[in-house]
Amino acid sequence: MHLSLLAKGLSRTSIRGICQRHRRLLAISSYRSASSSDGMTSDELIDRILRVDHAGEVGADKIYEGQLAVLRNTSVGPLIQEMWDEEKEHRETFEKLIPQHRARPTALLPLWNIAGFTLGAGSAIFGKEAAMACTVAVEEAIGEHYNDQIRQLIEKDPEKHKDLLEVLKKFRDDELHHLDTGLENDALKAPLYDTMSGIIKAGCRTAIWLSERI
Ligand SMILES: [Fe+2]
Ligand SMILES: [Fe+2]
Repeated sequence: MHLSLLAKGLSRTSIRGICQRHRRLLAISSYRSASSSDGMTSDELIDRILRVDHAGEVGADKIYEGQLAVLRNTSVGPLIQEMWDEEKEHRETFEKLIPQHRARPTALLPLWNIAGFTLGAGSAIFGKEAAMACTVAVEEAIGEHYNDQIRQLIEKDPEKHKDLLEVLKKFRDDELHHLDTGLENDALKAPLYDTMSGIIKAGCRTAIWLSERI
């Protein structure tokens, strides 16, 4: 992926930024989030994972819906549609897993529906670069979050949680692909990229924290 970006003529600074992000995202073993599974039973951990992941995928579904509402007839319309289709598949998977595991969905779903669409459409009205910067920030936060959960399940019992681990790894890879798509489509050229990215990532981490608990 990095070579293809070089071929497209991105600056050395941009490439360095991309490499740093990927190093962070892929450092599963060294990543530690605020969430800890210490002292939780397997059932409690699964309940929390399914609740927060479902919430995240509802939010992602609405973000891409919002982006597409603004950018449907632009050069990035088909790409956003493709990513949106994958988010819908992720959401549907958790909608099946939640009743199967008798997990409790978050009470905050109405909020994430509104917040997701507002973030997607609100970033897209500043142009395709801002929409892609939003995608990169969200997918970076979600990619880190999936990696954290994968680590917790492996620490708990990798054999027992084999099926869920497969789902989370597949979705993590999809999210990282979305992140790459954002970078390859001028996310770094968005106005006030660092500020916007910092605010969105902080918002995502707050949403994750709340959805794990409420
Ligand atoms: Fe997703
Ligand atoms: Fe995604």
